[in-house]
Order: sequence, then structure tokens, then C-alpha cells
Amino acid sequence: MDRDQRLVEICAEHRDRKGPLLPILHAIQAEFGCIDEAAERTVAQALNLSRAEVHGVVSFYHDFTPAHDPRPKVQICRAEACQARGVEALMPDAEATAGNRVKLATVYCLGLCSVGPNARIGDAVYSRLDDAKLRQLIEGA
Ligand code: FES
Repeated sequence: MDRDQRLVEICAEHRDRKGPLLPILHAIQAEFGCIDEAAERTVAQALNLSRAEVHGVVSFYHDFTPAHDPRPKVQICRAEACQARGVEALMPDAEATAGNRVKLATVYCLGLCSVGPNARIGDAVYSRLDDAKLRQLIEGA
């Protein structure tokens, strides 16, 4: 099955759900590592939306990327509670540690506000981060 066929199949798998757009986009992002223009067109056609409508959603959410990025990704929560717990002070060292090898992505709340600062790698969430813990996470990503 080629990529275009698989995109059509993903759309068909979710089309009858209530609010199918986000599940479709998450499935495409998970399978292909990005949602490019071709994918946006396929989704738009499947859901009878304009490409601009689909692109608006894709560009709004940080989880969706227009091009595949093979680097490991560390998501760091920079929402209010994690800010209050010092995440911004961790960022200079985190960015220096990541360099160009690891992609640092900002997210806004991982649902563990009382034990922040928090970060996520894949499905694993790490809490109570300090410089050393975050550096270790990034180096191991
Ligand atoms: Fe960071 Fe909620 S604000 S986990």
C-alpha cells in the first residue's frame, strides 16, 4: 500500500467518528511523522473541508509538524504552573544540552501541575525536574 492509499485508509477509519479531524491528524502524525500539504489535501477531501480549514488546525497544534523531523523529541511544559515551579530557569541549559541533536518542544500542561516542572518523552512523563534531571533526560533521548 502506498502512502496516498494509506492516508485515504486512515481517513476512512475515523470518518464516521464524532469530530473526526483531530483523530485523523493524530493518526497521520503518528504514522508518518508529519502532516504535509498532500496529507492536508487528502484529509480535506475526505471530510469535505477546505485545505485552509485543515491547515488551520494543523498549524495551531504543536503536536503536528509539516515535515518529518528524525531527531528525538523532548516535550517540556512551559505553562503557568510549571513556570511558577521554575521551568524557564531550566531552559538555557536544556537548549545547550539539546543542541541540534534533540528537538525540544514546548507543550502547555501535561496534567501534572503540582509536581512540575514536567517533561515528556514519548508516553513517559518526568516530574520535579531540575537542571541535572532534565539534562540527563535530554542526553538519554
Ligand atoms: Fe505544567 Fe500543568 S502546567 S503540567
